[in-house]
Amino acid sequence: MRVLITGAHGQVGHELVRLAPAGFTVTGLGSSELDISNLEQVANKASELKPQLIINAAAYTAVDKAETDSERAYAVNAKGAENLATAAAKLGVPLLHISTDYVFSGDASAPYKETDPTNPSGVYGASKLAGEQAVAKHCAQHIIMRTSWVFGAHGNNFVKTMLRLAQTRDELGVVADQHGCPTSAASIAKALWALVSQYSNKGNLNWGIYHFSNMPATTWHGFAEAIFSQAVALKQLPRAPKVNPINTVDYPTPARRPAWSVMDCSLIEEKLTIEQSDWREELAQMLKEIAI
Ligand SMILES: NC(=O)c1ccc[n+]([C@@H]2O[C@H](COP(=O)([O-])OP(=O)(O)OC[C@H]3O[C@@H](n4cnc5c(N)ncnc54)[C@H](OP(=O)(O)O)[C@@H]3O)[C@@H](O)[C@H]2O)c1
Repeated sequence: MRVLITGAHGQVGHELVRLAPAGFTVTGLGSSELDISNLEQVANKASELKPQLIINAAAYTAVDKAETDSERAYAVNAKGAENLATAAAKLGVPLLHISTDYVFSGDASAPYKETDPTNPSGVYGASKLAGEQAVAKHCAQHIIMRTSWVFGAHGNNFVKTMLRLAQTRDELGVVADQHGCPTSAASIAKALWALVSQYSNKGNLNWGIYHFSNMPATTWHGFAEAIFSQAVALKQLPRAPKVNPINTVDYPTPARRPAWSVMDCSLIEEKLTIEQSDWREELAQMLKEIAI
Protein backbone atom coordinates (compact mmCIF):
# COMPACT_ATOMS: atom_id res chain seq x y z
CA MET A 1 0.00 0.00 0.00
CA ARG A 2 1.26 3.47 -0.94
CA VAL A 3 1.00 5.90 2.01
CA LEU A 4 1.58 9.66 1.80
CA ILE A 5 2.64 11.42 5.01
CA THR A 6 2.52 15.23 5.16
CA GLY A 7 4.46 17.30 7.71
CA ALA A 8 7.08 14.53 7.67
CA HIS A 9 9.72 16.61 9.49
CA GLY A 10 7.56 17.46 12.52
CA GLN A 11 7.52 15.53 15.80
CA VAL A 12 4.80 13.10 14.75
CA GLY A 13 5.63 13.10 11.02
CA HIS A 14 9.20 12.10 11.79
CA GLU A 15 8.06 9.16 13.94
CA LEU A 16 5.53 8.11 11.30
CA VAL A 17 8.29 7.81 8.72
CA ARG A 18 10.72 6.18 11.18
CA LEU A 19 8.22 3.59 12.42
CA ALA A 20 6.64 2.67 9.09
CA PRO A 21 6.07 -1.10 9.07
CA ALA A 22 7.48 -3.27 6.32
CA GLY A 23 5.20 -3.75 3.36
CA PHE A 24 4.15 -0.12 2.95
CA THR A 25 5.60 2.25 0.36
CA VAL A 26 5.91 5.47 2.32
CA THR A 27 6.40 8.96 0.92
CA GLY A 28 7.03 11.48 3.69
CA LEU A 29 7.00 15.09 2.53
CA GLY A 30 8.04 18.17 4.51
CA SER A 31 6.54 21.62 4.01
CA SER A 32 9.15 22.56 1.39
CA GLU A 33 8.16 19.53 -0.72
CA LEU A 34 4.41 19.84 -0.21
CA ASP A 35 2.71 22.93 1.21
CA ILE A 36 -0.70 21.58 2.17
CA SER A 37 -2.22 25.08 2.11
CA ASN A 38 -1.61 25.16 -1.66
CA LEU A 39 -4.51 23.37 -3.42
CA GLU A 40 -2.68 23.04 -6.74
CA GLN A 41 0.39 21.48 -5.08
CA VAL A 42 -1.80 19.03 -3.17
CA ALA A 43 -3.77 18.05 -6.29
CA ASN A 44 -0.58 17.61 -8.34
CA LYS A 45 1.16 15.49 -5.68
CA ALA A 46 -1.95 13.34 -5.25
CA SER A 47 -2.18 12.59 -8.97
CA GLU A 48 1.58 12.03 -9.24
CA LEU A 49 1.92 9.68 -6.21
CA LYS A 50 -1.56 8.13 -6.24
CA PRO A 51 -1.44 7.29 -2.51
CA GLN A 52 -3.83 4.61 -1.25
CA LEU A 53 -4.00 6.36 2.12
CA ILE A 54 -2.95 9.82 3.37
CA ILE A 55 -1.81 10.71 6.90
CA ASN A 56 -1.81 14.43 7.69
CA ALA A 57 0.80 15.23 10.33
CA ALA A 58 1.30 18.79 9.02
CA ALA A 59 -0.01 21.68 11.07
CA TYR A 60 0.59 25.24 12.15
CA THR A 61 1.42 24.47 15.82
CA ALA A 62 2.73 27.83 17.12
CA VAL A 63 -0.13 28.34 19.60
CA ASP A 64 0.87 31.84 20.77
CA LYS A 65 1.96 33.12 17.35
CA ALA A 66 -1.38 32.01 15.89
CA GLU A 67 -3.12 34.74 17.90
CA THR A 68 -1.54 37.39 15.65
CA ASP A 69 -1.05 35.20 12.56
CA SER A 70 -4.54 33.75 12.22
CA GLU A 71 -4.53 33.91 8.41
CA ARG A 72 -1.60 31.50 8.21
CA ALA A 73 -2.95 29.28 11.02
CA TYR A 74 -6.25 28.88 9.13
CA ALA A 75 -4.46 28.45 5.78
CA VAL A 76 -2.60 25.40 7.11
CA ASN A 77 -4.91 23.95 9.77
CA ALA A 78 -8.25 24.53 8.05
CA LYS A 79 -7.64 25.01 4.29
CA GLY A 80 -4.68 22.60 4.28
CA ALA A 81 -6.81 19.90 5.91
CA GLU A 82 -9.61 20.63 3.43
CA ASN A 83 -7.20 20.37 0.47
CA LEU A 84 -6.01 16.95 1.64
CA ALA A 85 -9.56 15.76 2.34
CA THR A 86 -10.67 16.83 -1.14
CA ALA A 87 -7.67 15.09 -2.74
CA ALA A 88 -8.27 11.90 -0.71
CA ALA A 89 -11.97 11.85 -1.63
CA LYS A 90 -11.13 12.35 -5.32
CA LEU A 91 -8.78 9.36 -5.15
CA GLY A 92 -11.36 7.41 -3.10
CA VAL A 93 -8.82 6.81 -0.30
CA PRO A 94 -8.89 7.43 3.48
CA LEU A 95 -7.40 10.41 5.30
CA LEU A 96 -6.00 9.98 8.82
CA HIS A 97 -5.84 13.45 10.36
CA ILE A 98 -4.37 14.59 13.70
CA SER A 99 -6.15 17.15 15.85
CA THR A 100 -5.94 18.48 19.38
CA ASP A 101 -7.48 18.83 22.83
CA TYR A 102 -7.44 22.61 22.12
CA VAL A 103 -10.76 22.21 20.28
CA PHE A 104 -12.28 22.16 23.80
CA SER A 105 -12.53 25.15 26.13
CA GLY A 106 -10.55 23.43 28.87
CA ASP A 107 -13.10 24.34 31.53
CA ALA A 108 -14.25 20.76 32.24
CA SER A 109 -13.31 18.59 35.20
CA ALA A 110 -14.04 15.14 33.75
CA PRO A 111 -12.20 13.58 30.78
CA TYR A 112 -13.52 14.92 27.45
CA LYS A 113 -15.45 12.48 25.29
CA GLU A 114 -15.61 12.74 21.49
CA THR A 115 -19.27 13.78 21.77
CA ASP A 116 -18.62 16.67 24.19
CA PRO A 117 -19.25 20.14 22.74
CA THR A 118 -16.21 21.89 21.29
CA ASN A 119 -15.47 25.52 22.13
CA PRO A 120 -11.85 26.53 21.43
CA SER A 121 -10.58 29.55 23.29
CA GLY A 122 -7.81 30.60 20.88
CA VAL A 123 -6.99 30.89 17.18
CA TYR A 124 -4.95 27.67 17.06
CA GLY A 125 -7.78 25.57 18.53
CA ALA A 126 -10.38 27.29 16.33
CA SER A 127 -8.30 26.70 13.19
CA LYS A 128 -7.82 23.02 14.13
CA LEU A 129 -11.57 22.65 14.73
CA ALA A 130 -12.24 24.17 11.29
CA GLY A 131 -9.81 21.57 9.91
CA GLU A 132 -11.71 18.73 11.61
CA GLN A 133 -14.98 20.00 10.14
CA ALA A 134 -13.47 20.27 6.66
CA VAL A 135 -12.08 16.72 6.84
CA ALA A 136 -15.44 15.32 7.98
CA LYS A 137 -17.28 17.26 5.27
CA HIS A 138 -15.06 16.45 2.31
CA CYS A 139 -13.79 12.91 2.99
CA ALA A 140 -16.19 10.29 4.36
CA GLN A 141 -13.36 7.79 4.97
CA HIS A 142 -11.62 9.74 7.73
CA ILE A 143 -10.11 9.22 11.14
CA ILE A 144 -9.61 12.38 13.19
CA MET A 145 -7.30 11.59 16.10
CA ARG A 146 -7.28 14.26 18.81
CA THR A 147 -4.18 14.14 20.97
CA SER A 148 -2.43 16.28 23.61
CA TRP A 149 0.90 17.44 25.08
CA VAL A 150 3.09 15.85 22.37
CA PHE A 151 6.75 15.10 23.07
CA GLY A 152 9.43 13.18 21.20
CA ALA A 153 13.13 12.85 20.50
CA HIS A 154 12.77 14.85 17.29
CA GLY A 155 11.67 18.50 17.41
CA ASN A 156 10.97 21.02 20.12
CA ASN A 157 8.78 20.21 23.07
CA PHE A 158 8.33 20.58 26.84
CA VAL A 159 10.76 17.75 27.68
CA LYS A 160 13.57 19.35 25.66
CA THR A 161 12.82 22.76 27.22
CA MET A 162 12.97 21.34 30.76
CA LEU A 163 16.25 19.52 30.07
CA ARG A 164 17.74 22.71 28.63
CA LEU A 165 16.65 24.84 31.62
CA ALA A 166 18.05 22.25 34.03
CA GLN A 167 21.53 22.87 32.60
CA THR A 168 21.63 26.36 34.10
CA ARG A 169 18.96 26.57 36.82
CA ASP A 170 18.82 25.18 40.36
CA GLU A 171 15.18 26.08 40.69
CA LEU A 172 12.29 26.83 38.34
CA GLY A 173 8.56 27.51 38.46
CA VAL A 174 6.25 25.23 36.45
CA VAL A 175 2.48 25.54 36.04
CA ALA A 176 0.64 23.18 38.39
CA ASP A 177 -3.00 24.07 37.67
CA GLN A 178 -3.24 22.78 34.08
CA HIS A 179 -4.14 19.09 33.80
CA GLY A 180 -3.49 16.88 30.81
CA CYS A 181 -1.93 13.74 29.41
CA PRO A 182 1.55 13.86 27.89
CA THR A 183 1.69 11.79 24.70
CA SER A 184 4.76 10.58 22.88
CA ALA A 185 4.98 11.22 19.16
CA ALA A 186 6.12 7.61 18.78
CA SER A 187 2.95 6.28 20.43
CA ILE A 188 0.79 8.41 18.11
CA ALA A 189 2.70 7.09 15.10
CA LYS A 190 2.32 3.48 16.30
CA ALA A 191 -1.42 3.96 16.85
CA LEU A 192 -1.83 5.45 13.37
CA TRP A 193 0.16 2.63 11.76
CA ALA A 194 -1.99 0.09 13.62
CA LEU A 195 -5.03 1.74 12.03
CA VAL A 196 -3.39 1.69 8.59
CA SER A 197 -2.71 -2.06 9.04
CA GLN A 198 -6.31 -2.69 10.09
CA TYR A 199 -7.55 -0.79 7.04
CA SER A 200 -5.13 -2.62 4.78
CA ASN A 201 -6.33 -6.01 6.10
CA LYS A 202 -10.06 -5.31 6.20
CA GLY A 203 -10.49 -2.62 3.54
CA ASN A 204 -12.50 -0.63 6.08
CA LEU A 205 -12.32 1.10 9.47
CA ASN A 206 -14.78 2.56 11.99
CA TRP A 207 -14.41 6.08 10.58
CA GLY A 208 -14.86 9.12 12.82
CA ILE A 209 -13.36 11.23 15.61
CA TYR A 210 -11.29 9.56 18.35
CA HIS A 211 -9.32 10.70 21.38
CA PHE A 212 -5.85 9.27 21.88
CA SER A 213 -3.29 10.19 24.54
CA ASN A 214 -0.93 8.44 26.92
CA MET A 215 -1.92 8.10 30.57
CA PRO A 216 -2.20 8.88 33.50
CA ALA A 217 -3.24 12.53 33.72
CA THR A 218 -0.79 14.92 35.35
CA THR A 219 0.10 18.62 35.41
CA TRP A 220 3.03 20.37 33.72
CA HIS A 221 4.58 20.48 37.19
CA GLY A 222 4.15 16.71 37.61
CA PHE A 223 5.52 16.13 34.12
CA ALA A 224 8.60 18.31 34.85
CA GLU A 225 9.34 16.42 38.07
CA ALA A 226 9.13 13.08 36.23
CA ILE A 227 11.43 14.38 33.47
CA PHE A 228 14.08 15.46 36.00
CA SER A 229 13.90 12.34 38.10
CA GLN A 230 14.21 10.06 35.07
CA ALA A 231 17.03 12.17 33.58
CA VAL A 232 18.95 12.01 36.87
CA ALA A 233 18.42 8.23 37.10
CA LEU A 234 19.78 7.90 33.56
CA LYS A 235 22.72 10.19 34.51
CA GLN A 236 21.69 12.71 31.85
CA LEU A 237 21.50 15.39 34.57
CA PRO A 238 23.83 15.65 37.57
CA ARG A 239 20.93 16.73 39.81
CA ALA A 240 17.26 17.64 39.56
CA PRO A 241 16.40 21.34 39.89
CA LYS A 242 13.78 22.23 42.47
CA VAL A 243 10.41 22.52 40.70
CA ASN A 244 8.17 25.11 42.30
CA PRO A 245 4.45 24.85 41.51
CA ILE A 246 3.05 28.05 40.02
CA ASN A 247 -0.38 29.06 38.73
CA THR A 248 -1.33 29.88 35.15
CA VAL A 249 -1.86 33.53 36.14
CA ASP A 250 1.82 33.67 37.12
CA TYR A 251 2.90 32.55 33.64
CA PRO A 252 0.93 34.72 31.17
CA THR A 253 0.95 33.70 27.49
CA PRO A 254 -0.65 35.40 24.43
CA ALA A 255 -2.98 32.40 23.93
CA ARG A 256 -5.05 31.12 26.85
CA ARG A 257 -4.05 27.59 27.86
CA PRO A 258 -6.76 25.05 28.77
CA ALA A 259 -6.86 24.24 32.50
CA TRP A 260 -8.25 20.79 31.64
CA SER A 261 -6.98 18.83 28.63
CA VAL A 262 -7.66 15.30 29.82
CA MET A 263 -9.47 13.20 27.20
CA ASP A 264 -11.37 9.96 27.60
CA CYS A 265 -9.67 7.45 25.29
CA SER A 266 -12.03 4.51 25.79
CA LEU A 267 -13.72 4.84 22.37
CA ILE A 268 -10.54 4.23 20.36
CA GLU A 269 -9.86 1.14 22.46
CA GLU A 270 -13.41 -0.15 22.11
CA LYS A 271 -13.89 0.52 18.38
CA LEU A 272 -10.33 0.33 17.03
CA THR A 273 -8.49 -1.76 19.69
CA ILE A 274 -5.88 0.96 20.29
CA GLU A 275 -4.68 0.93 23.90
CA GLN A 276 -3.21 3.82 25.89
CA SER A 277 0.40 3.51 26.97
CA ASP A 278 1.97 5.08 30.06
CA TRP A 279 3.75 8.37 29.26
CA ARG A 280 6.38 7.63 31.94
CA GLU A 281 7.50 4.59 29.91
CA GLU A 282 7.33 6.61 26.67
CA LEU A 283 9.43 9.33 28.35
CA ALA A 284 12.07 6.79 29.43
CA GLN A 285 12.29 5.61 25.82
CA MET A 286 12.64 9.16 24.52
CA LEU A 287 15.39 10.01 27.04
CA LYS A 288 17.31 6.90 25.99
CA GLU A 289 16.96 7.90 22.34
CA ILE A 290 18.26 11.45 22.83
CA ALA A 291 21.25 10.12 24.82
CA ILE A 292 22.52 8.18 21.79
N1 LIG B 1 2.68 19.55 19.72
C1 LIG B 1 1.67 19.31 20.54
O1 LIG B 1 1.80 19.42 21.77
C2 LIG B 1 0.34 18.88 20.00
C3 LIG B 1 -0.73 18.70 20.89
C4 LIG B 1 -1.96 18.27 20.39
C5 LIG B 1 -2.11 18.02 19.03
N2 LIG B 1 -1.06 18.23 18.19
C6 LIG B 1 -1.28 17.99 16.75
O2 LIG B 1 -0.42 16.93 16.37
C7 LIG B 1 -0.05 17.07 15.00
C8 LIG B 1 1.44 16.96 14.86
O3 LIG B 1 2.04 17.98 15.65
P1 LIG B 1 3.60 18.03 15.93
O4 LIG B 1 3.78 18.21 17.38
O5 LIG B 1 4.29 16.92 15.20
O6 LIG B 1 3.92 19.44 15.22
P2 LIG B 1 5.28 20.00 14.65
O7 LIG B 1 6.44 19.29 15.26
O8 LIG B 1 5.17 21.48 14.76
O9 LIG B 1 5.21 19.57 13.12
C9 LIG B 1 4.30 20.12 12.24
C10 LIG B 1 4.92 20.04 10.87
O10 LIG B 1 3.98 20.60 9.95
C11 LIG B 1 4.74 21.28 8.97
N3 LIG B 1 3.95 22.30 8.30
C12 LIG B 1 3.61 23.54 8.73
N4 LIG B 1 2.93 24.18 7.77
C13 LIG B 1 2.86 23.34 6.71
C14 LIG B 1 2.31 23.42 5.42
N5 LIG B 1 1.68 24.53 4.99
N6 LIG B 1 2.41 22.36 4.59
C15 LIG B 1 3.05 21.25 4.99
N7 LIG B 1 3.61 21.10 6.19
C16 LIG B 1 3.51 22.14 7.04
C17 LIG B 1 5.89 21.89 9.72
O11 LIG B 1 6.94 22.10 8.82
P3 LIG B 1 7.82 23.45 8.90
O12 LIG B 1 8.48 23.41 10.25
O13 LIG B 1 8.74 23.31 7.75
O14 LIG B 1 6.85 24.59 8.77
C18 LIG B 1 6.22 20.84 10.74
O15 LIG B 1 7.26 19.99 10.33
C19 LIG B 1 -0.64 18.41 14.56
O16 LIG B 1 -1.87 18.18 13.91
C20 LIG B 1 -0.90 19.14 15.85
O17 LIG B 1 -1.94 20.09 15.73
C21 LIG B 1 0.16 18.64 18.64
